[in-house]
Amino acid sequence: MTAPAAAGPASGPGSPVLDWYARHARELPWRAPDCTPWGVLVSEVMLQQTPVARVLPVWQEWLARWPEPADLAASSPGEAVRAWGRLGYPRRALRLHAAATELTERFGGVVPDDEVTLRQLPGIGEYTAAAVAAFAFGRRAVVLDTNVRRVLARADGGQQWPAASPTRAERDRAAGLLPRDAATSARWNVALMELGALVCTARRPEG
Ligand code: ADE
Repeated sequence: MTAPAAAGPASGPGSPVLDWYARHARELPWRAPDCTPWGVLVSEVMLQQTPVARVLPVWQEWLARWPEPADLAASSPGEAVRAWGRLGYPRRALRLHAAATELTERFGGVVPDDEVTLRQLPGIGEYTAAAVAAFAFGRRAVVLDTNVRRVLARADGGQQWPAASPTRAERDRAAGLLPRDAATSARWNVALMELGALVCTARRPEG
């Protein structure tokens, strides 16, 4: 697998990053067009500190058992932790359970589609709110996870590593690169994430 060439407008029409993603993206169930916003939200929380391969079976089990927030809210927090298995950081299971309860009691069981409202949910920080808005609802959002930040630092910022936490300048640069069209911007975000996971990895700075 080769990294996209650096020529041309990075995120515009004919973007090498989008082109690369179209050819090399992994087929993951939370990227399927019929995945529900709840499925996307659960995937983003599980993927925060855990690799895709470990998340996959647990995500499948969670979604089969709790297809809607109200289903999880009707189970006990202990059940959520047990079903978390060995994903690590089990407090995430408790936060997802608390988010499901909140969604059921305050939002009619519906995952909100904007970042500001998403951030009111337990365990949903800046990254997860942006990721759910982008990937579940096709919204324009600046999605800055560690993979995206590393790719942008190397490709756009001229640095091998980004700062410990996102700076204002980094956010502004990322926002400036975001394609105008909402659907394309969502693809751009996931394409940068995938490039960071598969090619421009932390271990291989030359990627
Ligand atoms: N696709 C969408 N969000 C993702 C994530 N956080 N990690 C891997 N693939 C994803």
